[in-house]
Amino acid sequence: MPLVSMRQLLDEAARGGYGVGAFNVNNMEQIQAIMEAARETKSPVIVQASRGARSYCQDRFLYHLMLAATELYPEIPTVLHLDHGNSVETCKSAIAMGFTSVMMDGSLMPDGKTPSTFEYNVKATREVVETAHAKGITVEGEIGCLGGIEDGHGAGLDGLSHLTDPEQAVEFVRQTQVDALAIAIGTSHGAYKFTQKPTGETLKMDRLIEIHKRLPNTHLVMHGSSSVPKELQDIINQYGGKLRPTWGVPVEEIQLGIKNGVRKVNVDTDNRLAMTGAIRKVFAEKPEEFDPRSYLKPARDAMKKVVAQRMTQFGQAGHAGDYAPLSLEEMAKRYQGNGKPLAA
Ligand code: 13P
Repeated sequence: MPLVSMRQLLDEAARGGYGVGAFNVNNMEQIQAIMEAARETKSPVIVQASRGARSYCQDRFLYHLMLAATELYPEIPTVLHLDHGNSVETCKSAIAMGFTSVMMDGSLMPDGKTPSTFEYNVKATREVVETAHAKGITVEGEIGCLGGIEDGHGAGLDGLSHLTDPEQAVEFVRQTQVDALAIAIGTSHGAYKFTQKPTGETLKMDRLIEIHKRLPNTHLVMHGSSSVPKELQDIINQYGGKLRPTWGVPVEEIQLGIKNGVRKVNVDTDNRLAMTGAIRKVFAEKPEEFDPRSYLKPARDAMKKVVAQRMTQFGQAGHAGDYAPLSLEEMAKRYQGNGKPLAA
C-alpha cells in the first residue's frame, strides 16, 4: 500500500484507545529497524524526519527508502511525517516530495529557537492546514514551547517556562483546524531531560489531562518522549562513552498520557542511544573489525528491539490490520465535506 494519512492512523488509535510511536530516522538502517519491529508486533507505523534528517538524506533518498518500505512491508500502514517544520515553505516542500503528514511548528519563529506569538503561530499553521488538507495530508501544530535544543529544535528553555495554556490550546485548534496538537508539559528533546526521576513538578501530566478534558476530540502529541533507560546509558558508558547521569520520561507516564488523549508519542533519543551502545560494543570488543556491516547490523537490531518494546508499551501492537487505509484523495474529500475526516 502507498504511504497513508496520519489522521486516519490517529483516529483509529483514538477509537482503540492506544498510542502510536513516531520514530525519527536519518538512514536506511533506522527505517529497516522500525519496519521490522512493526512486522514483528503487527503495528501501524509513523516514521518522521526533521529538517536535519531531510538534508542529511538529501530528501530524495529518504523518500525512496520509504517507498521501498511500503513495497517490502505492504501489510503495515505507514506514514511519513515531517517533524518540526519551521516554516510554511518547509511544510510545502515536504508535501511536494510526498510526505503524508507535516508538523508546522509555529510555536517558534523560523529560526527554530525564538518563541513566536500566538497570532504568528495561528497564521502560519492555518496556511499549512489549507494547503495540506486540500491534498488529504495531515497537519500537526504546536502550542507552548518544548525545552532543550540539543537536536536543533526547541526553545532552549528549561522546559517549564512555556507550558501549553489550555485555553490557548482550545482557541488554537478552533482557529487552525489542526489534526493533532503537540503540547508542552515539561519535556524536552535529547538525553538530558531531567536530573532525577521526574515528579509532578517537572513533568506536568495534570496539565495534559486538563487539555484533554477541554479538547477531547483532538489527538494530542507528546514530544520529547524518550525514556532514556539506564540500561542503554550503561552500555554506552561501559564501552567508553561519557554520558552524564540523566532521566527521561517514564513509560508509565506516557501510558497515563495515552489514557488521556495522547495518540502520537515522539521517540528519537532512545533509538540513538541503542544504536550508539551497540556500535561502541563492537568497536571495543572486536577492534579488528572494519566492515561497516559488523557494527551497523547490531545497531539496527538494538534499535529494532527498543522500537518493538515501545510499540507494545504504547498499545499499537496488533493493530496494523484493523482497517483499510483510505487514499489521500478520499481524505481530501472528507476534509472538504464537513471538516470531520474521521475514518468512521
Ligand atoms: P526525544 O529526544 O525524547 O526522543 O524526542 C524526540 C522528539 O520529540 C522528536 O520530535
